[in-house]
Amino acid sequence: MQYNNKEAKFPADFLWGASTSAYQFEGAYNEDGKGLSVMDIAPHPEDVADFKVASDHYHHYQEDVQMMKELGLKAYRFSISWSRVIPDGKGDINPAGIEFYHNLIDELKASNIEPIVTMYHFDLPAALQEEGGWENRATIDAFTKYAKLLFEEYGEKIKYWLVINEQNVMINHPGALNRDEIPSKKSLYQQCHNMFVAQAKAMILCHKMYPEALIGPAPNIMAVYPATCNPADSIAANNWASIRCWLYLDVAVYGKYTDLVWQYLVDREIEPEIYAGDLELLAEAKPDYIAMNYYATATVGASKGDGSDLSARGGDQQIMLGENGVYRAEQNSYLDSTDFVWAIDPIGLRLTLRKINERYHLPILITENGLGAKDILTEDGKIHDDYRIDFFNKHFKQAALAIADGVNLIGYCPWSAVDLISTHQGCSKRYGFIYVNRDEFDLKDMRRMKKDSFYWYQKVIESNGKIL
Ligand code: BG6
Repeated sequence: MQYNNKEAKFPADFLWGASTSAYQFEGAYNEDGKGLSVMDIAPHPEDVADFKVASDHYHHYQEDVQMMKELGLKAYRFSISWSRVIPDGKGDINPAGIEFYHNLIDELKASNIEPIVTMYHFDLPAALQEEGGWENRATIDAFTKYAKLLFEEYGEKIKYWLVINEQNVMINHPGALNRDEIPSKKSLYQQCHNMFVAQAKAMILCHKMYPEALIGPAPNIMAVYPATCNPADSIAANNWASIRCWLYLDVAVYGKYTDLVWQYLVDREIEPEIYAGDLELLAEAKPDYIAMNYYATATVGASKGDGSDLSARGGDQQIMLGENGVYRAEQNSYLDSTDFVWAIDPIGLRLTLRKINERYHLPILITENGLGAKDILTEDGKIHDDYRIDFFNKHFKQAALAIADGVNLIGYCPWSAVDLISTHQGCSKRYGFIYVNRDEFDLKDMRRMKKDSFYWYQKVIESNGKIL
């Protein structure tokens, strides 16, 4: 059965939102006592902006929230910069940093916008990185202390928490995150395990301190298609889906390593060291919902097994690289792609939501989805981003169909509320409904301007999706 002509409907309390992350949006990287994060000092391509000023949200937060209110947002998902509130990641607290997030949260609540807080979005405090970063078990303790501080400070005001943004991107696509050098897989999987333990501790702590709060993981999930109906391609798709996606949700939800992935790690002698008590913690921690970031699907074929699987196209979060003996990245001739060569697959969103629902049976919140494009500011101050409207129109419709399929989708937070700096492709790769008047190196006046997609999304929210 196709189930294609269902009526697109969203529940009355649907969280129409939008997202950002601290290091890509705030700027003020060394102001008011903030410590450096790995992202502040990361090497990055010379022709693109760094994150030091970003969209200067730190100084524009009131205006930004007012525009979000005008947009009609029901929710806003942002991250807290760990090194803004604890400059070296584990020691003294920075009162100005604490105050900034109180002010932001208060401003949101006064505007009837539900704050959704990500505790960690790629920006580990640099001081912790110097001590080994996530490979060092002490980072788990530092994160637990940081989590406790966030719950103590903001717990009364926050209903929705997300622990770690895209842990699976940090492990599977580290090249997208401006690393000095790419760690070995052995190191990456130790980091990964330590993050799992840190996440579990944060979820347990949250439930003890604020039983009514909701907390969950926020990986980047995609359906993986076999390139053909050759069963060998289906095995490859299953390999890659398990390694890239399901591992992260299986551990978060069921507290267990996916059997296939554990075997893959053991076969390659890259399995992490698991310490006494870790598995018990993983089993005890239970998320209340699953947040997921979705941009594209992947299409893969069987590995040729001769070392030729590594794609020459380079890779990032959405451009798969291939791995000998595991899978080979293939093009999907049925899909268009963005100017930045990411596949555009609205139906893939419906499929991905169905798969998550079938596997975990938990509420789902889309915490990122969007179109990176080189928007043009016209002389009369307009941004005609009809391509973005088209992108969201198609994706929102598929989200509604997923709801009609039985998926408990509670909200949709496009990336991004306002223009910000891309992970590795600068500020010309824009995502926002609100334009920020700067370019890669000329900071101009940072003026905020409404794109055509702003007015369109406003109507979508106003009508609770009926105009789609
Ligand atoms: C996700 C990240 O991977 O994709 C965001 O959580 C990121 O931080 C977004 O900005 C879009 O990716 P990019 O590389 O275009 O910035």
